Amino acid sequence: MARIPSQYMAGLTLERAGPTPLVEQIARHVEAAISEGALSPGGRLPSWRDLAAQLGVARGTVKAAYELLIDRQLLVAAGAAGTRVADPLPSPTRPPAADDADLVTPDVRHEVDLPLVFRMGVPAHDAFPATVWSRLHRQAVQQTSMLTGHLDPRGLPALRAALAAHVAIARGVACSPDQVIVTTGFRASLATALQAVGAAGGQAWVEDPGYPVARRALELSGLHPVAVRVDGEGVDVAHGRNLAPRAALAFVTPGQQAPTGVVLSPRRRQDLLRWAAEAGAWVIEDDYLGELQLSGRSAPALASSDHPGRVIHIGSFSKTLSPMLGVGFLVAPLPLAQRLIDIAVWLSAPPNAAVQLALAMFLREGHYLRHLRRMRQLYARRRSRLVEVLGTLGAQGCGPAGLAVMLPLPHGFDDWRLAERARAVGLAPAPLSPWFAAASQLNAGLLLGVSNAVENRIVQHCHRLLALISEPAHAAGRSAGLLRPPSTRRPTIDGRD
Ligand SMILES: Cc1ncc(COP(=O)(O)O)c(C=O)c1O
Repeated sequence: MARIPSQYMAGLTLERAGPTPLVEQIARHVEAAISEGALSPGGRLPSWRDLAAQLGVARGTVKAAYELLIDRQLLVAAGAAGTRVADPLPSPTRPPAADDADLVTPDVRHEVDLPLVFRMGVPAHDAFPATVWSRLHRQAVQQTSMLTGHLDPRGLPALRAALAAHVAIARGVACSPDQVIVTTGFRASLATALQAVGAAGGQAWVEDPGYPVARRALELSGLHPVAVRVDGEGVDVAHGRNLAPRAALAFVTPGQQAPTGVVLSPRRRQDLLRWAAEAGAWVIEDDYLGELQLSGRSAPALASSDHPGRVIHIGSFSKTLSPMLGVGFLVAPLPLAQRLIDIAVWLSAPPNAAVQLALAMFLREGHYLRHLRRMRQLYARRRSRLVEVLGTLGAQGCGPAGLAVMLPLPHGFDDWRLAERARAVGLAPAPLSPWFAAASQLNAGLLLGVSNAVENRIVQHCHRLLALISEPAHAAGRSAGLLRPPSTRRPTIDGRD
């Protein structure tokens, strides 16, 4: 390989009194010579000694400049063969242009701003316990910032202990902290549960209507959802037994059925647990609203009467505190505990340590129960005011449904399109039809989340919504049967639909 004679460095004049160190000046000069092509790949640079003598600097100065460029991958040290110009690095492949492929479909785009009015699945943005939470979080950051080890993948022991105590008091579930696995939220809990059950290829009961996000997650995990009807007692277990007696699992919302709000009756609870024990099936209990029963006392969790040990209980802080915290948990039934723990330990990562510790303190010091009490009162007020206003304005047949109000629409309405139109005017009702396995013109409706329906603006919001519903565009949609087929409707990832 050709040696680059030291004359190539002739153009280098050093500013000895300038602010830039000599090492950096030499390095910049060599770098410029490479990028201008004066020094080509493979060419050998002058030895430290020669260049140092030529420039009138110490050998160590040239050596340091060469080392800097070796670190920047512009030069390579070739031992006795000296220092050479490195081959150019391959240029990075061109990132696909935005229009090459639309990888992110509209249903997985998120809005992280303040929630719009009637948005489902988010707590009240004006009632987050910010003062207490900030204090505890600050403390937790101080306590955890010195720790540099790995977190327990099952979650901080302090949080698992606090959660075990909380589910015992609030949900009637007796478990040890070792059965509790802290996750980054509902979807992480569901993914852990589905991996542990390992039932790909099998059938899974889902409620009809039911949470579309869960239906889609089951499909993506290789399960075949079987839609089991929901009536005034919750999921109809006899119907499930008829449709898929050997299903591998059932995904249910017994505390308050999503979206109807119906509490699973004691009789159906027994039926469901009996079926699970007989069929060797697992029941995934999505307790997303368990503690937020707005009228009367919360029914205990299904897991509280799970003597055969078939129920995987999933809890969430998304509705009670904030989805932004990124914390959820599951309680493992004893027969599946080891497998669930293995999945958590080897395949998942726990939430941020400071958030976990702050939450543990928040629970332990009683703030969470106090916060829940306030939230129940606030949401109950907002929900009854919304039902009252809609009734006064002539909306037919609307009624409470969990943390939402369900507003049925006349047959043939395109609730999906109506929800899109509403978003353009700052309202975010969810269309009801995607919650049904077979979206049909018979189940058009809107779900109006109550958590951000601030009382003194409800009349104004309802007027705006009802005006949209009576627009001729929707009447045209009705007569032309514009309801899109179910296959084109996918749930949005933030649980809106
Ligand atoms: C039925 C149901 N389950 C679970 C969740 C929790 O979802 P996440 O914790 O991802 O917000 C939601 C959110 O809207 C829901 O509606």
